[in-house]
Amino acid sequence: MKKKLKIGIIGCGQIAQIEHLPYIRDSLDFELYSLCDLSNQVVQAVGEIYGIPAERRYTDMDAQLADSQLDAVIICTRDHYEPGLKAARAGKHMLIEKPLAYSLEQADEMIDAARKSGVVMMVGYMKRYDPSYAYFKKEIEKLKDITLVRVHDYGGSFDFTGSLFNICRGSDIPKEVMDAGAQQIQDAMVRQLGQQRAQLAPAYSFMLGISTHDSILMRHAFGMPEVLFADVHQNGFLTSVLDYGSFRAVFESGFLPARRVWDEKIWVYAPEKSLTLEFPWPYLKNAPTKLTVNENEPGSMVNVDKVVVNGFEEAYRAELQHFYDCITNGAAPLTAGEDARRDIQLAYDMICKVKL
Ligand SMILES: NC(=O)c1ccc[n+]([C@@H]2O[C@H](COP(=O)([O-])OP(=O)(O)OC[C@H]3O[C@@H](n4cnc5c(N)ncnc54)[C@H](O)[C@@H]3O)[C@@H](O)[C@H]2O)c1
Repeated sequence: MKKKLKIGIIGCGQIAQIEHLPYIRDSLDFELYSLCDLSNQVVQAVGEIYGIPAERRYTDMDAQLADSQLDAVIICTRDHYEPGLKAARAGKHMLIEKPLAYSLEQADEMIDAARKSGVVMMVGYMKRYDPSYAYFKKEIEKLKDITLVRVHDYGGSFDFTGSLFNICRGSDIPKEVMDAGAQQIQDAMVRQLGQQRAQLAPAYSFMLGISTHDSILMRHAFGMPEVLFADVHQNGFLTSVLDYGSFRAVFESGFLPARRVWDEKIWVYAPEKSLTLEFPWPYLKNAPTKLTVNENEPGSMVNVDKVVVNGFEEAYRAELQHFYDCITNGAAPLTAGEDARRDIQLAYDMICKVKL
């Protein structure tokens, strides 16, 4: 029997309840050991569901992190800066939900703290662990030439999550505490963007919160691009042109809250074939990410689409297994803190290109 690591959650909201907690419960690698949420109602309700003893249900992360039995945490708060620093200093391995931070300065401090403590810092870009992305990446490596890439990421309303999952919500966090938390995020973004570009914070925030999922996949396939052009329109939609050296990519990100849509695709065009990777709505468990390969039949101009479904493994589950491997076998995280910092840099570079 391999040794199970004791893991805790900081921030037991939507993503923790829908994805991380159920996969930890089923895990052969981790024992769900402790929970922390600012809301006592949430931590008690989730603690009951998962059978966590009362003394390991916390509303104060300092008390949770002081437990020497705890090996690792998953950080699922909205703002990861303070929990990330504290977990690193307490010597706990960390899987931090994306975005790592809202500014480069915060990211640097967190990365530095993890390095000094010698703990694993991995960022929750689960799509990097998606088997269809692995297949897509291999197909890209076989292409002789790429002419154009297009990335399109339009998120929609999440209002129906409640009809798919039972999510415990609390009403016991004072409004001043909630407001102060939101203000800290806003302040970090404005410090990064500068007052002159503060009006672009909604687009920067969306880019960090949602579209970094795609920027990391692009970087891991093609490297770090140079931003040639960026425009923010409709108070948050961001369109950018990126230079990857031998080809360019159009990157479109936006949010359509009035509709229940999830429209996230990456197209790669090359003379011999084109590839389209299409992601499902993120909370549809085991829904496969679909790759379409379009090419001519050998020796003819007859054009065919081949649809590839490379397994049904849930990316969040694969991400958790990789986290264990990093802690116990010294594997390098595929989505390390240092690497996630580049997505903050790229989002910032895009915002800097926007004509005011
Ligand atoms: N990987 C993905 O696809 C994905 C999807 C959704 C959300 N996320 C990320 O997960 C994070 C959380 O998102 P969510 O939708 O679950 O938000 P949420 O608001 O539902 O949950 C956040 C929880 O953290 C708690 N919290 C806040 N500050 C805290 C503190 N200091 N100590 C303890 N608890 C604290 C809140 O009370 C709340 O219950 C965000 O960073 C988001 O970007 C990732």
